[in-house]
Amino acid sequence: MLPRQLGTARYIVDMTKVLVVGKGGREHALIRACVDSPCEKEVFAWPGSDAIFELAKPTPAGSFDELLAWIEAKNVDLVVAGEEAWLVSGEGLANACERFGVPCWGPKKEAAQLEASKEFAKEFMLRHNVPTAGYAAVENIDDARAAITSYPCVLKFDGLAAGKGVAVCTNEADAEAFLQEVFIAKRFGEGRVLVEDFLAGPEVSIFVSVVEGTYHILTPARDYKRLKDGDDGPNTGGMGAVAGRGLLDADTLAVIEETAVKRTVEGLEKDGLPYRGFLYFGFMLTDDGPKLLEYNCRFGDPECQAVMPLLSGDFIGYVKSGAEGELDESLIEFSSDWSVCLVLASAGYPESSRNGDVIRGLDDVSSGRVYHAGTKKNEAGEFATNGGRILAVVAQGESRESAVAKAYGEFAKVDFDGAQRRSDVGTCNF
Ligand code: AMP
Ligand code: GLY
Repeated sequence: MLPRQLGTARYIVDMTKVLVVGKGGREHALIRACVDSPCEKEVFAWPGSDAIFELAKPTPAGSFDELLAWIEAKNVDLVVAGEEAWLVSGEGLANACERFGVPCWGPKKEAAQLEASKEFAKEFMLRHNVPTAGYAAVENIDDARAAITSYPCVLKFDGLAAGKGVAVCTNEADAEAFLQEVFIAKRFGEGRVLVEDFLAGPEVSIFVSVVEGTYHILTPARDYKRLKDGDDGPNTGGMGAVAGRGLLDADTLAVIEETAVKRTVEGLEKDGLPYRGFLYFGFMLTDDGPKLLEYNCRFGDPECQAVMPLLSGDFIGYVKSGAEGELDESLIEFSSDWSVCLVLASAGYPESSRNGDVIRGLDDVSSGRVYHAGTKKNEAGEFATNGGRILAVVAQGESRESAVAKAYGEFAKVDFDGAQRRSDVGTCNF
């Protein structure tokens, strides 16, 4: 940062106080990028984790309200929203920051409905002519049954459901089981369901930095959602990801930019929903062109862990310029390499998870990075499992094949009892 003149002849160097909100692998990667930024900075995390606190300082907040009070009192220079939940909690993280005059990278509550409500997102897509799957919104089990006209069909709970609110049903029994969970057991609370047409094709995640009518498209990524090789087994939060410019040909990217990114960015302005932050577009690349499945008002996890090592430059300066309303794209660059992110999950995941298994080999990873998602230090100071998805090992290469080989070479060094992993990330199209 440039020295700032104070008073007459005293110069001080600005210290940028940055807070990253979240605790998982995505936040570990964002914090690493903040720490690697060239400016003088103090990086804080909330709620954070033992691994994150090796890079960032903790805040003294025991609750979200206390965090907001701390942001105001500490006069933080930049808040970076990692997890989506806080954008729509209470008055909303970005809304509170605006009240304090603190730049926040992440949208206000009103715009964050794009992720928090699937029906809001669908209506937005239709209003602004963004290609997506046809759907019906229903509010009881009978209307849901009537709206299903063929299989496979896709059922989505209309609210935040920690990645568990979507069911791709190939038959009536599967559909009935999901509808029972939503409408009878009320597993996710009160809410409507979208009955959506099934789309087929490879998926791709596009991340865009949006600042009120302007945008910057980052390197695309693909995540591997199923637990097992060959896209088998239950859906998870993501068992790996691959990122690289080569994931999409120029024509497809141009169609995505024209039909989805531009229309969305303009639509937000037209609807009076000023947006500052990462916006994630989840596409299905169908034979009929790219169709938008969903928006998320944040970076993807684990895609972020794959993308961030490709970035160089001044990440804090970039995000701060956007949070202040004028994105300076020139502050960062993305390498043309490929990046492969491999996730280790604990025994029992995703139905359950096992805590306390000691992680071996972390210090042996020499040509990759490790981002912690669900780890905790035990009494002996060793990292142990603490959740479902435990950590990601990430490595890069000039070609997809070399990145895969390098990432798997490093991944093999890390282990714990009951560890689950995929062996085909980056080698196949899902
Ligand atoms: P969503 O949270 O809406 O992105 O859905 C989660 C996952 O469900 C997506 O990443 C897809 O794998 C799958 N999915 C969602 N919508 C559809 C659809 N219309 N057709 C086929 N698969 C879908
Ligand atoms: N990787 C999917 C997500 O972050 O929602």
